[in-house]
Amino acid sequence: MTTMEYERVFSLDDEALKCPYEHFKRARSECPVSRSEVAQVWVISDHEHVTAVLKDAVTFSTKQMLGPQVAEEWQRMIDLAAATPEGKEKLGPEYGTSPRKVLLFADPPEHTRHRKLIMSALSPAAIRSWEGRIRETAQLFVDRLAEQPRVNFVEDFANAYTMTVIADILGLPREQVPQMLKWAAGFNSMVGNPNLTQEEVDALVDVRLGFDLYFDEQVQQRRKEPTGDLISRVIELNDAAEEKLARDDLLQLFQLVMVGGSDTSSTALAKMIEYLAENPEQWTELRNDASRIPLFMEEMLRTESPVQGMFRYVTKDVELGGQSLKQGDYVWVSLGAANRDPKVFDDPDTKNLDRKGTPAKYVSFGGGPHTCPGTALIRLGLRIVLEMLTARFTGVRFTGEKPASKKSFLFFGPAELHVEFLN
Ligand code: HEM
Repeated sequence: MTTMEYERVFSLDDEALKCPYEHFKRARSECPVSRSEVAQVWVISDHEHVTAVLKDAVTFSTKQMLGPQVAEEWQRMIDLAAATPEGKEKLGPEYGTSPRKVLLFADPPEHTRHRKLIMSALSPAAIRSWEGRIRETAQLFVDRLAEQPRVNFVEDFANAYTMTVIADILGLPREQVPQMLKWAAGFNSMVGNPNLTQEEVDALVDVRLGFDLYFDEQVQQRRKEPTGDLISRVIELNDAAEEKLARDDLLQLFQLVMVGGSDTSSTALAKMIEYLAENPEQWTELRNDASRIPLFMEEMLRTESPVQGMFRYVTKDVELGGQSLKQGDYVWVSLGAANRDPKVFDDPDTKNLDRKGTPAKYVSFGGGPHTCPGTALIRLGLRIVLEMLTARFTGVRFTGEKPASKKSFLFFGPAELHVEFLN
């Protein structure tokens, strides 16, 4: 088989990472299920097969969801963390006894139980109850920006804003946000990184222990005195359930909310601002008519998928797209490529705000049983802040070089974004 262009993406080539989805085009039209020798996975690149894999969570398991090269390191890290004397002493003898296979790391039927918990905690009513707080947070950040309009938007705004929203819904103090950002960056450094060094693994153990100690204390406090936040809701639901999640599993669930909800949302927001800096007329359109903002967000999320793909583990031999996949193989579902499949989206590379039916079809939030449970929250958080930014400023412009992309084939967006907001 000829070498596919996408190998440059898996090799973390800077140029290729600027538009990763471009490098999946030929594979998508000629061979939608193909083999990457670099990533050691089957690459699924068209919408039909991507959605089929996402829906079949039994054949295509998420249990080894960090991919072929990282899975082993991850397991080793868990064992190390569990064996840490400090952890055992502070978190008790049960610490480290659960395999921590929760939500994205679990398959049905266990996954179905976890899912009930998180969906109830992130119910539309719960999200409505947080709206006022999200508005306050967005206002605070926009006011700060008005005072200091030249920023590295990624670090100074997007990361901090999205993590503050997550801290608020978890019921954690805002002073904790810098530490949460460090923990999330630590956990994320492992995803899509096939070359973890011993030092990185050691650093991850520290991250994991710091996170566990803090969150365990928060859980204990909420047990004594529930406060109506996401942690309290999950604990109440779990305590009332017939089959309960163990303490370590609850910690992993909160970890997934913190990690899954922050960098993805921050990347999405930064990519939107980068695009608006490149297309000032689009800023003006949104400023003149805020009802266009949700349509803009959907097209941005479709064409610039913040999560470019996901790993799945093949649990039994199966034919897919004319290829024979074997039990134990891994697949990479290319969400970014599926979102630009011309068989599903007319003129797929264009951001068309009048496109019909987009949200129902694009796969930036995954699909099937693991579909992101944070979609309503993220749409609300992004809409509020974009409305405030476009109302407050007349535009945004670059103040530095065009930004480099994150060094990751999984997370897609600018690594830094030096811009100035205009009055
Ligand atoms: C733009 C922002 C976001 C994007 C692009 C995104 C994307 C994704 C994707 C692609 C998945 C995997 C779906 C699959 O495997 O089929 C996922 C799962 C998940 N996301 Fe998000 N997410 C975002 C925001 C959030 C937020 C705000 C939260 C939390 C409040 C969150 C929590 C989770 C959790 C807990 C899972 C695991 C669900 C499961 O396995 O059942 N995400 N997300």
